[in-house]
Amino acid sequence: MRKKIVAGNWKMNKTYDEGLELAREVNEYLRYKEGAEGVTVILGTPFIHLAKVAHNITEANLSVAAQDCSAEKGGAYTGEISAAMIASTGAKHVIIGHSERRAYHGETNALLAGKVNRALENDLGIIFCAGEVLAEREAGNHFEVVERQLAEGVFHVTAAGFSRVVIAYEPVWAIGTGKTATPDQAQEMHAFIRSVVAKQYGDVAAADTTILYGGSCSPANAGELFSRPDVDGGLIGGASLKAADFFEIIKARAKR
Ligand code: 13P
Repeated sequence: MRKKIVAGNWKMNKTYDEGLELAREVNEYLRYKEGAEGVTVILGTPFIHLAKVAHNITEANLSVAAQDCSAEKGGAYTGEISAAMIASTGAKHVIIGHSERRAYHGETNALLAGKVNRALENDLGIIFCAGEVLAEREAGNHFEVVERQLAEGVFHVTAAGFSRVVIAYEPVWAIGTGKTATPDQAQEMHAFIRSVVAKQYGDVAAADTTILYGGSCSPANAGELFSRPDVDGGLIGGASLKAADFFEIIKARAKR
């Protein structure tokens, strides 16, 4: 089912204690403050926080995601974390294909397809990221790039598998730059993504797919972005690191 989702991606931020405190604050906001009705909230924490945060949170609309998983099932892969290990912490989702992993860890669409398989085998929901770099947008190739990332990374799964997938459109030029996509640019790409999902899985599945926007999303611009019909929510980096800012974005999603 298509949902209103606001997900935080903490990236490589927060020590153990700091992360538990941030998760506690988000949980308290959702518990005691008005304004988050109808929004599903996900915390994409570092691996070290997953088990404790999953254990501590109390709110039915709050759950935890890992930021990556291995494409391997298990074994001699020093430093890697498997999807089975993530699921065993109580985390419900995993972010796959973030542009920082593609850029700094050489993750290819083929590798990501393997990660998607491991996540589904372990019953994890997937937030699958796609997005073009600036040069690709300037060359007018952004639709083609995003379609290919989806086709090669995630469209191999069955319709049942795809129902566990949320797509996050994250234009790389907008991540951490303060230069957000305009609501029109986001809407245009989200509508395009929905059309390629429809080609692959049919109109009903496409209408049910949740598509998030990520890239310098903040309390100041979230409302405008979420007002667009194909922007179902956000994947939030920097602004998810302060509970008050994150909650403002959640409220902006609830209002629309
Ligand atoms: P920022 O919100 O910091 O631009 O990061 C977006 C992002 O990469 C979320 O995954």
